[in-house]
Amino acid sequence: MEPTSRFGYPARRVVSDPVDGRLVVVANRLPVRWDPRAGRWETSPGGLVTALEPVLAERKGVWVGWTGTPDHAPEPFEVDGITQVPVPIAEDEVETYYEGFCNGTVWPLYHDAIRPVEIHRHWWRPYVEVNRRFAARVADIVRPGDRVWVHDYQLQLVPGFLRELVPDTRIGFFLHIPFPPPEIYGRLPWRTQLVEGLLGADVLGFQTRRAVLNFAGAARMFGGARGRAQSLEYRGRSIVAETVPISIDADHYRALSLAHETVSRAYNLRRSLGKPSSILLGVDRLDYTKGIDLRLRAFETLLQRRPDLHGDVVFIQVAVPSREQVEEYQVIRGRVEQLVGRINGEFGRPDWIPVYYLYRSLPQDELIAYYRAADVMVVTPLRDGMNLVAKEYVATRTDGTGVLVLSEFAGAAEQLDEAFIVNPYDLDQMAAVLEQAVSLSPDEQRTRMAALRRSVSRFDVHWWASECLASLDG
Ligand code: ADP
Ligand code: G6P
Repeated sequence: MEPTSRFGYPARRVVSDPVDGRLVVVANRLPVRWDPRAGRWETSPGGLVTALEPVLAERKGVWVGWTGTPDHAPEPFEVDGITQVPVPIAEDEVETYYEGFCNGTVWPLYHDAIRPVEIHRHWWRPYVEVNRRFAARVADIVRPGDRVWVHDYQLQLVPGFLRELVPDTRIGFFLHIPFPPPEIYGRLPWRTQLVEGLLGADVLGFQTRRAVLNFAGAARMFGGARGRAQSLEYRGRSIVAETVPISIDADHYRALSLAHETVSRAYNLRRSLGKPSSILLGVDRLDYTKGIDLRLRAFETLLQRRPDLHGDVVFIQVAVPSREQVEEYQVIRGRVEQLVGRINGEFGRPDWIPVYYLYRSLPQDELIAYYRAADVMVVTPLRDGMNLVAKEYVATRTDGTGVLVLSEFAGAAEQLDEAFIVNPYDLDQMAAVLEQAVSLSPDEQRTRMAALRRSVSRFDVHWWASECLASLDG
């Protein structure tokens, strides 16, 4: 019998790429984005690119996506062995398709409606239009034997359109964010069209079991599919929906963490903070799903409860600017910055700043130095598909120390149960866990971290890709 992991996923299956077929990845963003002000390409933000980039670089595949600049679609070009095929998105579509339907409707809805879900017909129509354009671009370039792998919530109609345009192509879809329960999903006026679009794929991958069950429920309820997730019957085809938790290139993070330069950077960081006994760290896109505000309030509660820790603990929050034109993102940014000011104003002293706040993207080697320096990593989203930051932290803890505090509402909690699991809405519990974390004995840290490291290194991004591609190969 095939060995399985503790949480029931099969152990690594070794698959090689078929020699005669390319892997064509389709995602809203290319792995590089054009910065018109600096006039250069830079790495795109977010977990989707972090995870997929090493997989595709290894296979020298094709990536179809948007450059991030309106009306910008240069001819296909190559970066690190990946052929980049740009798809244009017009300026008005950035507002209606990207900021509107993708990030004002689907994003909050799929994250359990933790923020108001805006529903507009004039956002839906451009979503259909842009999805049709992506599918047409793929159909232009796809060759017999290629496998097409469509990604994430921005492109849910693409599998259906592709099924019409290139019916014999094997099509996979992976959803990087949660799929909500049918009673939330069912609010959407276009609930049938979206599941029908997804059911155009041969195989659908999700981050958690809960997402698979929710999707299968929606597919039966709104799409007329029949049967169980593992074999949904739809229009004479059989479709597989499965749990395949995404991950990181753990070896890469481990190697970068061990580099001499990273070690001295981490040391210098601690020294520049006045050598506190404990550094707590948060690293996120500045998104309301990440729970940054509640996390800061939990830290504030800790400082209120434990004056003896003043001067001795420091919280660093690194936040990457994200979706800055969307109103809810402006609101959360205001709230986070106000909280940082409030905590520093209330507790700070000339010789101690409790919260350091960085509103920018850091180069990967610098980010890893922050992970190395952090004694406690605080990952407390209100809802998250997976959360790669948690896995990155674990992979960089090469000496086996460090404490991971993780929200029960992150997909990662299904795998990383040796972390300190918290309910991010419960400020008292979170403060108590932070209190425990800053004084955890090195022995206890090592026991928990060893288990976390085993899980992250075994179920890494290569395992994830092998699983997904083995299913896609059928
Ligand atoms: P999401 O996909 O919602 O953004 P993840 O945690 O899955 O969340 O992935 C976020 C990715 O973005 C990680 O690879 C993380 O290292 C990266 N990242 C987050 N914050 C920063 C930052 N300030 N600078 C650079 N990279 C960041
Ligand atoms: C998450 C989503 C990705 C998205 C990324 C960055 O990781 O799952 O699909 O690309 O956030 O968001 P952005 O809106 O900047 O593409």
